[in-house]
Amino acid sequence: MKLNIDSEVPKVVVVGHVDHGKSSFIGRFLYDIGEIPDEKFAELKKASKTRSIDFEFAFLLDALQDERDQGITIDTTRIFFKTKKRKYVFIDAPGHKEFIKNMITGASSADIAILIVDVHEGIKQQTKKHAYLLKLLGVEKVIILFNKMDKIDYAEKKFLRVKFELEKFLSSINIKFNSSIPISSKFGDNLVKRSTKMPWFKGQVFVEVLDKYNISDNEISHFIRFPIQDIYKIGDKRVIVGRIENGKISNGTELIFLPSNEKVKVNSLEAWPKAKKIYGPGDCIGITLNDQIFVDRGNLASDTESPPKLMNRFESNVFWISDKKISFDKKYFMKINTGEYEVNINKIKNVINTESLDRKKNTNVLKNDICELVIHSSQFIPMDDYSFNKSTARFCLLDSEEIVAGGIINLKNYPDQREKKYISKNNITPESYSITEIDRSIKFNHRPGIIWLTGLSGAGKSTIAKNVEKRLFKRNFNVFNLDGDNLRIGLNKNLDFTPEDRTENIRRTAEVARLFTQAGFLVLVSLISPYRSERKKARDIRPELFREIYVKASVDICAKRDVKGLYAKALRGEIESFTGISSPYEEPEKPNIIVDTTIEKVEESVIKLEKYIIKEFSF
Ligand code: ADX
Repeated sequence: MKLNIDSEVPKVVVVGHVDHGKSSFIGRFLYDIGEIPDEKFAELKKASKTRSIDFEFAFLLDALQDERDQGITIDTTRIFFKTKKRKYVFIDAPGHKEFIKNMITGASSADIAILIVDVHEGIKQQTKKHAYLLKLLGVEKVIILFNKMDKIDYAEKKFLRVKFELEKFLSSINIKFNSSIPISSKFGDNLVKRSTKMPWFKGQVFVEVLDKYNISDNEISHFIRFPIQDIYKIGDKRVIVGRIENGKISNGTELIFLPSNEKVKVNSLEAWPKAKKIYGPGDCIGITLNDQIFVDRGNLASDTESPPKLMNRFESNVFWISDKKISFDKKYFMKINTGEYEVNINKIKNVINTESLDRKKNTNVLKNDICELVIHSSQFIPMDDYSFNKSTARFCLLDSEEIVAGGIINLKNYPDQREKKYISKNNITPESYSITEIDRSIKFNHRPGIIWLTGLSGAGKSTIAKNVEKRLFKRNFNVFNLDGDNLRIGLNKNLDFTPEDRTENIRRTAEVARLFTQAGFLVLVSLISPYRSERKKARDIRPELFREIYVKASVDICAKRDVKGLYAKALRGEIESFTGISSPYEEPEKPNIIVDTTIEKVEESVIKLEKYIIKEFSF
């Protein structure tokens, strides 16, 4: 197991546009805090003189890395340094290919991020892109340095203008800023020494801000997240090892393991020579369990109160770093926490313009684009929503061996597949029915059935179902129509339109439909039921009696009809998570029949469905 020896040393990352002075800043800062030996400095000054070039602090960095090459600066790798207060390490910075890969794969993550802007040039697209990237990479707070103040004669006005623009952008992507400091790397203003040229600046200089930065203030959830790295057999003990991402674990802590969804208690903590009583974030530990459940590498253990979700379809904001085009037919490898899964990219929802933050639909994804993807997996993957917990909501995608993308997870639009199976079913003994389904079928002269109409709001489900119901009733069928809107007034009135509530809406409706079939009825269900996974669960209750009818009409057509005026509202942003607009609809893959209301008249669709039902359910 890899131990993180640097876990105590804050990792600092410096990002910004290529020419905005990252290297000079680091060089100058290291010099000012006395990290550069005088001999080295003198030697460099001499070297630049003999080459007749101006001495630049950026060279210092090159020299440090032993990769000096006439005036060409390269990005920093790991540089340790210490201030009067503590040690730090500069880790790699964007612009450098490996850095992005490392951040994406989680090989390195920054505790403190510094965004550098050339105040003379102002905000460039790359500045915004890097800021957006930091957000994708899990950074939520930055220190902003406005460099090259010397070039604008240390003018407060210009500084304030650029500061205002950048802070506005950062706020719009939810990145907080710790402080904004006007500096000049060239002359060392406000890095370690307070500048005499900017008396108007009353804030702290950079080194003060750095030393006061409280890393434990970075928001860490107290819920337990413990990804499993390995299982060791030591004697007859099975020791489960990993690194705690969040929360605290001690003897007796109750954990849920995903994807198995088993609950179990910690029996012992294992460490050499002696285990502590409690371990927390960043600690690498081994545990044994008080029950021999199946645990595998890649499992995610958590607390029982707020476990991760178990997903096989989800949305993500992704940074695409490959020249290869996205393919919908390809299998990609997804690495998340300690697990690896085979996934498909289902859909490119849109590409985000990091300049304007606009979203462009129906477009290709090019290298270095940031986009929103819908990803599907045939296995269940434990994960969190990024806004709930960052460390367990980051992943990367590999195509063969190549890392093609990294991203963060958004679970707003698809339902959790984890079964909440801990409700006690003790003391429940089902009664058998005194009248069997066959008795009822013989009396009613038809078989019971569930005719499940799925489709967008306004596609015509209710209209068709009502007409079919009438016709079948006239033919002496015991038939009833369960309509989504009606159910939502009564039985389902406590449910909203979140993925979880829709899932429950579908489950309850399917259970009611089951009861109707037990009563011998043919039941028509009109429910958007947007998720394939949930419709499958409904089918699985009585597969032999279940028929899926796709009432087909495109979003555009439904929005044009807009009988209830809901599409107009949704398009104005007045309804959250509206199916087809801001919430997904997954078309059936193999419906029993399709009723296309764009081309068929209502009458035609009704007769088609009626005929089908008679064929399937009458004797
Ligand atoms: S489902 O998605 O949970 O299956 P259901 O069929 O019960 O939906 O309810 C859909 C009806 O609720 C729509 O026909 C529409 O009248 C209304 N509705 C209100 N808000 C929404 C929304 N956000 N998304 C879809 N339908 C909505």
